[in-house]
Parts: sequence; C-alpha cells; structure tokens
Amino acid sequence: MDIFNVPQGNFQLQRFPRRAKEALRAWDAADEYLLQTIAEQQLIQPQPRILLINDSFGALATALAEQRPTVVSDSYLAHQGTFANLQENGIDTNRVTLCDSLSWPDGEFDLVIIKIPKSLAMLEDQLHRLRPRLNQQTKIIASAMCKQIHSSTLKLFERIIGPTHTSLAKKKARLVFSQFDQQLKVGESPYPKHYVLEGTEFTLTNHANVFSRESLDIGTRFFLAHLPKNIGKGTIIDLGCGNGVVGLIAAQHNPEATLQFVDESYMAVRSAQEGFLTAFPQREAQFAVMDCLRKIEKASVDTVLNNPPFHQNNVVGDHIARQMFKQSHRALKQGGELWVIGNRHLSYHVKLKKLFGNCEVIATNKKFVILKSVK
Ligand SMILES: C[S@@+](CC[C@H](N)C(=O)[O-])C[C@H]1O[C@@H](n2cnc3c(N)ncnc32)[C@H](O)[C@@H]1O
Repeated sequence: MDIFNVPQGNFQLQRFPRRAKEALRAWDAADEYLLQTIAEQQLIQPQPRILLINDSFGALATALAEQRPTVVSDSYLAHQGTFANLQENGIDTNRVTLCDSLSWPDGEFDLVIIKIPKSLAMLEDQLHRLRPRLNQQTKIIASAMCKQIHSSTLKLFERIIGPTHTSLAKKKARLVFSQFDQQLKVGESPYPKHYVLEGTEFTLTNHANVFSRESLDIGTRFFLAHLPKNIGKGTIIDLGCGNGVVGLIAAQHNPEATLQFVDESYMAVRSAQEGFLTAFPQREAQFAVMDCLRKIEKASVDTVLNNPPFHQNNVVGDHIARQMFKQSHRALKQGGELWVIGNRHLSYHVKLKKLFGNCEVIATNKKFVILKSVK
C-alpha cells in the first residue's frame, strides 16, 4: 500500500473500488501541494470550519481529519474511498462529515479547499453553491494538475467568487487562491439545464456533473434506436444512467416493465429521477446511487442496459466497464440479458463472451457496436 507523506502525517491510502493489482496512487501532486501550503501558511486556525470539495479518495479528509472537515462530493465512490481510508488509518470516521453535491452543509466556513473538477460546468455550479457559505475572512484555496487549469477556470473564480491568482507550478500542479467579493452580482447557477429529447416530448433534466448534459451523446443516440421492446413485466436496470435517457426510452418501449436507475453520481441519479417523473408521473421506478450493481440482489433482474464509462476521474480505462459487466452477470436472472454499447475499438465483446459464454452483435456503425449477452 502507498504511503502519503505530508506535513499533517503519514497515511496509508488506497483508491476505490479496491483492485488487487492497483498501479495508481490515491492522491496526486495537487493534494500534496495543497497540504504543504496549508501547513506552511498556517491556514488552519483554532477550531476551524473546513470545507473540502471534490476530494477524490479521501487523501485531504484523512490528512485533515483532526480538524473535523466537511466533505462535498458528487461521487459515491469518493465517499466510500474516504470512509475506507479513514478506517485504514485508524481514524474515527465520525470526524469527517460527508455531503453529496446536492445537499451542501449549512453555515459559513473559515477554510475552503477545492480540488478543481474536470468539468467546467461542475465547477461553475459548485462555486455558485459555495458563495453563500463564504465571508470576507474565508480562505479559499483550490488546486489541480496544471493541464486542468485553464484561463476559463480562473475566469469562473473571478466571476463567481472574486479576485483570483495562481501559484507557481510544483510537480506539474498549481494552486488557485481566490478572495470572496461580497459585492459581486453573480446571479443563479444555470444548472440544472433541460432539453427536449429529439423526436419525443420528453424533457431531460441535466444537473451540472451529468454526462452529455447539453445534448444527446451520439453513442447514446445509436443505443436508443436499438433498445429491446416489449419484454413484458420484467425489471430493467439502466446502469450508469447519467440523465436517465436510456431507461426513459426503455420505459416507453416496455410499458409493463419496472425501471431502476443506477449511477455512482448523485447528480446523475437526481437528473434521471426528475426526468422520469416528469415523463411518467404515474409510473413507479427506483433510483439508487451505488457502485455498479453492488446493492442489487443476486439473480433478480431481467435486463440491464449499459453505456459504460471509459474513465474514472482523469484515469482512462475499462476497469469500471469490466466491473459493470461482472456485476450485471451476478444481478441477472438465468436467461436475463445485458445490452451494452461501446466504441468498436474497446473490444467489449471479448470480455462479455468470457463472462457469459455468448455475445451477439445487435447493431453496429462506423464508431459504435451494440452487444447482447444472455445469462
Ligand atoms: C458514458 S456515461 C452514460 C450515461 C447515460 N447512460 C447515457 O448513455 O447517456 C457512463 C455513466 O456511468 C456512471 N458511472 C461511472 N462509474 C460508475 C460506477 N462505478 N457505478 C455506477 N455508475 C457509474 C457515470 O457517472 C456516467 O453517468
């Protein structure tokens, strides 16, 4: 296990979900730079109220646990990772308060530490939600690897928080310091955004961190054109639901089916719920934040529909997709079906064939392939 050496102590940290041969660390140089600067500049006052935003696997929360920080994140995996790393280091998990990205804590904070998210939309929404929790004395310090900090990132801080400057780069990471300006007129967050799904009357809700939040993704569009129809009374899970568009069209094609929407992003599940309830106010459905299908009973599901992610945070790879396929196999009844869309070059058919013993090509075009495996 890797040791995270920072002025606050030495901590054993792991990424989440845990993998037997994990090659990647659970923190980056931006976390180290933040914690070194907080110690050097003595930014922690006695009994501070500290807010940590977007801590990936709990590196910051673990190092600052003594100060009882509050953590806001949109990721269920980040919450689970924080919990596991606190436990691993013998730290009482009650020292850290975990909040999801739609239920921020009340009150003002003395120190706000932000890991700048990949999505500018998410940063914009978070800065809007942060503003009422600041006062003139609040210290605001953000960080990311240099390649993730653009002039548009800094403009957002300037526009929504106040005067902003950056530090020198250190190990390819940079810090952003912002000063709260109470006089700024910033208006409301533009999120969630809505659009009408082409060819339908359905309006989709898109909270800031949702995949393809401005318009329908081209892969998803291809998937929608080939979804299963009239499966009868079964359970259909939209796994990695994003704004829930796949489950929504599956519900339309399968009027007797019961839909479940699953994602590890709180904003995704809330978006799916709002969109579905607007489209089908009378229809029952379930909405759950979880890692893949871990909380779903074994052999209980008829159909899983899945457009898997090809990255976790900034790490590209098919490790989450593989987890999703494994979990689907476990959750499906005998004879149940997993439908997957992916880029042709990702070779999902090899993994599915290995797991299910079969894999049929339902449709293909220049870029995408839709596959079906039966348990
Ligand atoms: C490519 S997007 C698909 C979104 C939507 N189904 C569509 O087709 O437009 C993949 C989704 O998987 C979700 N996801 C990533 N890791 C996950 C995990 N471990 N468990 C559940 N969902 C996850 C992401 O948050 C994202 O919403």
